[in-house]
Amino acid sequence: MKILLTGIHGQVGSAISRRLPSYATVLAPPRSELDLADLVAVRKWMHQEQPDLVINAAAYTAVDKAEQEPDVAFLLNAELPHCLSQCLAEWQGALVHYSTDYVFDGTRIQGGYTEDEPPHPLGIYGKSKRQGEVLLMESEAPVLIFRTSWVYSLHGRNFLKTMLKLGQERDELRIVNDQWGAPTWAGSIAEATIAVLQKVLTDGLPVNAAVRPYSGLYHMTNGGSTSWYSFTQRIFEQCRYTTHLVPISSAEYPSPVIRPANSRLDNGKLARTFEVRLPDWEVALDQCLSGLSGNSE
Ligand SMILES: NC(=O)c1ccc[n+]([C@@H]2O[C@H](COP(=O)([O-])OP(=O)(O)OC[C@H]3O[C@@H](n4cnc5c(N)ncnc54)[C@H](OP(=O)(O)O)[C@@H]3O)[C@@H](O)[C@H]2O)c1
Repeated sequence: MKILLTGIHGQVGSAISRRLPSYATVLAPPRSELDLADLVAVRKWMHQEQPDLVINAAAYTAVDKAEQEPDVAFLLNAELPHCLSQCLAEWQGALVHYSTDYVFDGTRIQGGYTEDEPPHPLGIYGKSKRQGEVLLMESEAPVLIFRTSWVYSLHGRNFLKTMLKLGQERDELRIVNDQWGAPTWAGSIAEATIAVLQKVLTDGLPVNAAVRPYSGLYHMTNGGSTSWYSFTQRIFEQCRYTTHLVPISSAEYPSPVIRPANSRLDNGKLARTFEVRLPDWEVALDQCLSGLSGNSE
């Protein structure tokens, strides 16, 4: 099986690259070799290589900056996955794609959003990711779309890395305490993705035929939920940082984009369909932080 993995240097892409089975031929051109914003080059590359499966971990993920760069955000988050799926349909391939809790406005009062609840994104990033979902759901190639949330790892730019740095520099930090969601370790997303693929691709069918019955949206986050403030408390406890943490409201932390207050995603469909469950967020955080003393994740 030939797999194209995009976004190899991103959080999720790099975690996946470390876990892909050795029987697969994995092609993972970095940006310097294939600019994914150049759809002509992407089409040419796809036709040359004709991968059976594309795992699209590349995306435009700068939530605030997207407000100034809507064209680039829509190109990477909507047109690129659409282009990949159109190519894959030509040779019976399949796509794995990632989306986000930011397709919702976060006004749900309690519990987590299910896959069949109507999205209502608040900013350009969420709108561009939602547009990607819509285009993929209409596409001919089968696609597994995994919506995740609050992604972090020891690799790349993310909330955990920022807190690990600020915790060493500051005596006091003010952290938002009225947004709720599941911090999700990129390693857990990678493990769950591989587990789903192992389940789906076991019976010797061509990739396209094997994935088609499962084609659709799935929520994939670590279990449980917390606020950014409580997440930070846990990070600092585990790292024995003594920085004083002050809980604040979103209104006290102005940003160009309103973040969903309730980012919780219900993972029931993933568990029912594939028997795949991600660890609770506290367990995943410990797994990730154990990498501080050893491996690079
Ligand atoms: N981060 C989160 O909190 C979060 C939350 C919910 C959902 N998600 C979704 O999860 C998925 C993975 O996110 P992530 O956090 O792993 O993203 P990330 O760390 O920002 O990585 C994105 C990757 O996309 C690549 N990329 C962007 N534009 C490119 C271009 N023009 N050509 C080639 N490569 C390009 C980047 O390449 P470079 O390394 O060269 O920059 C990078 O490797 C995305 O679909 C994202 O929307 C993320």
